[in-house]
Amino acid sequence: MDNAVAYAWRDRITDDEMVDLVESHGGRSEAGWWDRVSGHSLGWVSARDGDGLLIGFVNVAWDGGDHAVLIDTKTRASHQRQGIATEVVRRAALHAKTAGCEWLHVDFETHLDRFYFGACGFRPTDAGLIHLYSQD
Ligand SMILES: CC(C)(COP(=O)(O)OP(=O)(O)OC[C@H]1O[C@@H](n2cnc3c(N)ncnc32)[C@H](O)[C@@H]1OP(=O)(O)O)[C@@H](O)C(=O)NCCC(=O)NCCS
Repeated sequence: MDNAVAYAWRDRITDDEMVDLVESHGGRSEAGWWDRVSGHSLGWVSARDGDGLLIGFVNVAWDGGDHAVLIDTKTRASHQRQGIATEVVRRAALHAKTAGCEWLHVDFETHLDRFYFGACGFRPTDAGLIHLYSQD
């Protein structure tokens, strides 16, 4: 097996591959999710190992203008802490810029500060969030 990681923008990812990737890191998978979501994306970056196995992913949503939103960063559990997510995010930022976006947003839980602020270079900002399902 070739140890090189192959990164791609808007590579075809099947729904089954996404389910497998999510389950690999202990996430809650949902069959049909990727098929439903992918059509609304500016694009996504995939990372595959030498056998073509999907090992990393990030999705880029956007407003059709200046703003892109990074979402659902994932690395296969067996491949974490090897710089893969840092690289998929770096590539996602480049593609968003090429598409004409000026701003790339992300939100995340505090324990990932070191990843998003440290490794990926995001800077802190004020942001807000409402969980709509919790509202009347
Ligand atoms: C978060 C995640 C995407 C990171 O992927 P990764 O490929 O392991 O990240 P990298 O190897 O590029 O990490 C670069 C640096 O970020 C930091 N970092 C990465 N994962 C971290 C974690 N879980 N906790 C704290 N810091 C982390 C470290 O400083 C790391 O450098 P180091 O390995 O030299 O210490 C991965 O842990 C994952 O898929 N988690 C489950 C899904 C998830 O929570 N996604 C985030 C959604 S907001």
